[in-house]
Amino acid sequence: MLDQIARTGREFDSALASASSAKEVDDLRVRYFGRKAGLIPALFARLKEVPKEQKKAAGDALNKLRDRLEEALRQKTERVAGEEATRKEARETLDVTLPGRKPRLGHLHPVTIVRQQMEDIFREMSYSIDPGPEVETDWYNFEALNFTPDHPARDTQDTFFVDVDQLLLRTHTSNAQIRSMERWKPPVKVFSAGRVYRRDEITMRKSPMFHQAEGFLVDKGIHIGHLRATLEHFIKRVFGEGLQMRMRPSYFPFTEPSAEVDMSCVFCKGAGCGTCSQTGWMEILGCGMIHPQVLRNVGIDPDEWSGFAFGLGLDRVAMIKFDIPNIRTLFENDLRVLQQF
Ligand code: DAH
Repeated sequence: MLDQIARTGREFDSALASASSAKEVDDLRVRYFGRKAGLIPALFARLKEVPKEQKKAAGDALNKLRDRLEEALRQKTERVAGEEATRKEARETLDVTLPGRKPRLGHLHPVTIVRQQMEDIFREMSYSIDPGPEVETDWYNFEALNFTPDHPARDTQDTFFVDVDQLLLRTHTSNAQIRSMERWKPPVKVFSAGRVYRRDEITMRKSPMFHQAEGFLVDKGIHIGHLRATLEHFIKRVFGEGLQMRMRPSYFPFTEPSAEVDMSCVFCKGAGCGTCSQTGWMEILGCGMIHPQVLRNVGIDPDEWSGFAFGLGLDRVAMIKFDIPNIRTLFENDLRVLQQF
């Protein structure tokens, strides 16, 4: 019996030494102390078979073994729990050797880049910057600009009307001319850029919302030479040196005379290519001398003052500058596109 008690102790020691998880330690506890088939209760049960004169020694040895095993299990359980907590903590704490995650930086939209560049160019020439409102009345968008109520040129600007108070979404940035001339007495020069709206289908070149920029100047003795010099400077700054510019007679209700301005094609430098339909020219803006009636409409005496105005599409400039063939690319906000700027 004593031999068997000693053997049980040795077996337990080696089993405990190789147990490394809480589960393994618990399995050991069941194997040695389990109520049904535990080895220690089994040994106690066998005590009654032991001859009387050996009973005390065997009982003492068995009690000692039980106490020692219980204490060993208790200590091991504690140690294993501690080790597991440490491992878990290590898994959850920051690994400072991992490479960092790069935060994504924002990018300016191509139209914003173009708008800011133009605003800078005109600010340098001491123009004020005032984008004007997008929701407008008929007076500022049309009538003060010399579009009489039944003027056929209204048909070229298919208008979105707002249900409230006969308001509309501006069809061009020319409304800002009228608002600025009302607000500031001449001499005055203002550059305005922003969103405009027309009832157009979405195509490669058209969108119901797009962007325009507008500039005008009113002072004494202003003539078409001032307009031309201003536009030549502007085109050079936006598209680079070495481009020709030409003015073609045109018509707008709010300017007289009116002109359309072409610059030599930025892709072929005037030689003729697919983009400029082999003409060597690209139409870039509309302009003219402010119509005397427009000046009168805002209380400026056309015999004392004169001025010029011009307007152009910002989306078109962005498309030319960044070689973007489809206007939709500008409004889809695809990050793969926007991150290139
Ligand atoms: N408002 C015109 C348009 O939307 C563009 C324009 C042409 C503006 C000539 C001007 C100008 O100021 O003088 O098509």
